[in-house]
Amino acid sequence: MRARIKNGMILMGLILGCSIGAATAYAFTPVPDGEVLYANNCAVCHGALDASAKIGANSTLINYAISGNIGGMGSLSSLAPDEIQAIATSLATVPRGASLYASNCVACHGGLSSTAKAGADSTTIQNAITANTGGMGTFATLTPVQVQAIASALTMAPAGTALYAGNCAACHGVITASAKFGADSSRIQNAIGGDTGGMGALSALTLDDIQAISAVLTSP
Ligand code: HEC
Ligand code: HEC
Ligand code: HEC
Repeated sequence: MRARIKNGMILMGLILGCSIGAATAYAFTPVPDGEVLYANNCAVCHGALDASAKIGANSTLINYAISGNIGGMGSLSSLAPDEIQAIATSLATVPRGASLYASNCVACHGGLSSTAKAGADSTTIQNAITANTGGMGTFATLTPVQVQAIASALTMAPAGTALYAGNCAACHGVITASAKFGADSSRIQNAIGGDTGGMGALSALTLDDIQAISAVLTSP
């Protein structure tokens, strides 16, 4: 029975793309599995982990949403603090477009902020992979969700990076070490609308600008 549970957890870890090392650790210690907890408690409203609308949310933000019953999330108040932390950890380590781009594409196409492939959509990328353009056939292992994540980073990152640098970095730090990772466009808009910390001065930013900024804030 115990062996079956361990094997089940290891299998689940592999299915969810967790490293074998982490899955093995779960078999010996009672650390809650954030990916499983996310799938059971959050995915129904926020989408699968790979494409979650809440990538980057930390435990403070999740607790805040639960205790405020945001979107009906009060029903999750039975989650223990270590379970919330485990969910936050899996939301922090999900593969993201910018990091996938950095590990797979940067060598040939340069950094996201200056790449000639800015604006490439997932079909164009997928076609280049299928046609083995420039040797890109090696990326046939990327899943559709990963290609889509890279395409999103290519669509938004150059504009968002520059907009962040010009409007936010002075107060929240450079993009690679921003204090605002995980801020979605509604959080940014609320801060501007509420003149939080003097941010009302940024009210000339358009919704597109704010979305471009939030897109780069999901991707350290
Ligand atoms: C019944 C649907 C539902 C479930 C289940 C749910 N949420 Fe939410 N959640 C919402 C809605 C609706 C909002 C408010 C709109 C938004 O921010 O997307 C929200 C807001 C949030 C926020 C705060 C908004 C912000 O500033 O980013 C976080 C963080 C969050 N959810 C994470 C989670 C996590 C983690 C889980 C699982 C433990 C979860 N949610 C489960 C519906 C849900
Ligand atoms: C080994 C070098 C190499 C790597 C790594 C690489 N590419 Fe390419 N890629 C090329 C070459 C060469 C071309 C053809 C010349 C060009 O369009 O720049 C190309 C073309 C493209 C095109 C244009 C296709 C078209 O039809 O216009 C896109 C989009 C693209 N790459 C995206 C990516 C993405 C995204 C990644 C990472 C998953 C990636 N590339 C990784 C070498 C590479
Ligand atoms: C003049 C300084 C200043 C500038 C410029 C600025 N902020 Fe802020 N911002 C603050 C202060 C101060 C707070 C309140 C303390 C905090 O949350 O860090 C804040 C709060 C926020 C919040 C709300 C709290 C939260 O985390 O949900 C978000 C989101 C945010 N800033 C994002 C941004 C973004 C994105 C930009 C650029 C478009 C920006 N800020 C520009 C000073 C600034």
